[in-house]
Amino acid sequence: MDIPFHKPYITDDEINAAAMCLRNGWLTMGAKTFEFEERFAAIVDGKYAVAVNSGTAALHLALCCIDLKTDDEVIVPAMTFVATAEVVRYFGAKPVLIDIEYDTHLMDAAKILEKITPRTRAIIPVHYAGQPCAMDEIMQIAEKNNLVVIEDAAHAFPAFYKGRPVGSIGHITCFSFYATKTITTGEGGMAVTDNQKWADKMRTLRLHGISKNAWSRYTKNGSWKYDVVMDGFKYNITDIASAIGIAQLEKLDFMTTERQRLSARYNELFKDKKQFVTYETAKDRKSAWHLYPLKIVAKNSKVIRDELAEELKKRGIMTSVHFIPLYRFSAYDNAGAFSDYPVCETVFEQTISLPLYVGMTDENIDYVAKAVIEICA
Ligand SMILES: Cc1ncc(COP(=O)(O)O)c(C=O)c1O
Repeated sequence: MDIPFHKPYITDDEINAAAMCLRNGWLTMGAKTFEFEERFAAIVDGKYAVAVNSGTAALHLALCCIDLKTDDEVIVPAMTFVATAEVVRYFGAKPVLIDIEYDTHLMDAAKILEKITPRTRAIIPVHYAGQPCAMDEIMQIAEKNNLVVIEDAAHAFPAFYKGRPVGSIGHITCFSFYATKTITTGEGGMAVTDNQKWADKMRTLRLHGISKNAWSRYTKNGSWKYDVVMDGFKYNITDIASAIGIAQLEKLDFMTTERQRLSARYNELFKDKKQFVTYETAKDRKSAWHLYPLKIVAKNSKVIRDELAEELKKRGIMTSVHFIPLYRFSAYDNAGAFSDYPVCETVFEQTISLPLYVGMTDENIDYVAKAVIEICA
């Protein structure tokens, strides 16, 4: 049985939605995008949602809102995808890394204070695998130190912290609709905020800094005249992508329930086995289960993580690792030593991400878990 690491859940709904855009001839950002934004904002309980062509673009525009400057500092977890930190570097600013918690792989909120300096401007908590960070603690630290909280929610749609949806807590929340994410538009992203001024700025910046109604200049009500009010970017999403996004939103409940069910099945199969540490979700949170991370305890296992990945591949099971810590990259050689992030190092060495996607059957999950258990026993 071949099991890929990921498969998007695409049905005739998405295919027809995209085909409708192609047939009606409006391909770039337009009415479908505004509908996608409105529906998305309502689901995450945010006031304004700004759709862009990637989660990275959403994070970049969020940092534009706070006018990040050269040599400013932004606090990020050591374990994340590089996009979280690279957007900080776009400004000549410095990502300051924080170690993570062993159980949840989330930024350790208790370690933030010691990294705050007069140059610190923002915190970017990353909701690893779809589990929200300790947002009450993070928001309190931010408030006391006059910092902005930009949530990297690339994995966390939909996710809940103490009953509140991710998207309604931080100052700006950035989602990703990359091909492997919990909903996908191929490539895409969304920045959500309650701050109208910031939402307007992000709308302007996503389309070359052109005054905000520029998209309509090819419609009956539009005009060829426009102004450029700031230096912007080419970050707009297409209506084809937004139409696919709307079709994905329609089945959000089903997809979320499936991810929870499949993860719970893995958890049950790995429970109480000394070779493994299953990924913990804090009691007051609901994860979107974008990933299924499993830790392999080397001293109790026949093989270590890398050998396990190789053996699984031989059996047709593809896996991944989330993430290579930032300080391990050659471009981040000023981010500190491995020993500065002891928990992150341990988690990195132990963790493998197993296949998890809507469309997997119970039989698929059992097949993967059985193979993992056999190889590590
Ligand atoms: C934690 C995290 N942040 C940001 C991103 C960037 O999202 P995108 O690929 O849509 O630019 C990703 C995507 O893989 C991610 O995993």
